[in-house]
Amino acid sequence: MRYSIAIDGPSGAGKSTIASALAKELGILHLDTGAMYRAVGLKVLRLGLDFSDEKAISEVLANTEIDIKFENGVQKVYLDGEDVNSLIRLHEVSKAAAATSSLRCVREKLAQAQRNIALKYDMVVDGRDIGTYVLPDAKFKFFLTANEEVRAKRRYEELREKGQSIDFNTVLEDIKKRDIMDMTREIAPLKKASDAIEIDSSYMTPNQVVQTMLKYIKERL
Ligand code: DC
Repeated sequence: MRYSIAIDGPSGAGKSTIASALAKELGILHLDTGAMYRAVGLKVLRLGLDFSDEKAISEVLANTEIDIKFENGVQKVYLDGEDVNSLIRLHEVSKAAAATSSLRCVREKLAQAQRNIALKYDMVVDGRDIGTYVLPDAKFKFFLTANEEVRAKRRYEELREKGQSIDFNTVLEDIKKRDIMDMTREIAPLKKASDAIEIDSSYMTPNQVVQTMLKYIKERL
């Protein structure tokens, strides 16, 4: 039997870093589901579609391939065969992903794809709705949080490192907007699963968070 570890939480809580380090410690794969929402956002942005035009987006999605491959254990996302791993990290794409991820057609297509991937491998899966909706039977569930300022600072530094010029307040405002969008959407909103362990990472190093999770997992495996 395959097993999954779900890590959900808001933007900038460090889910990806933590999920990747935890997967490495356990010798299993890491699925970053946000990358799939970003690939959809990129496609919609390129086509110039209105982010709320569910009919047009649904038609486009019917002919869109979002493939996840693991190359040397590292996830790569392909949009209609094109390697889009760098493009999906652009700030404009984050905004497009945040808007289009509230659409039912997007969530249903990606949730199904994520379930299919999780059937094949033992994995740490990070996202917003993994423990509540995509994999409600995940063996372990964590809900990773951090306060808004800390999350904005982390995202700001990440973008600066990638050479994107942006000011801190814009990042903070975007984080706040994204939290509201994530928590108030109708389908599979961001919320802690009742059986998830909550960890506030505001004043913890990534390694401290990983060790906390590992301890919990190893006591129960
Ligand atoms: O985690 P991230 O910033 O890469 O996610 C990009 C966007 O996709 C973000 O606005 C939230 C959305 N998302 C989602 O709705 N559900 C998921 N399971 C993962 C991401």
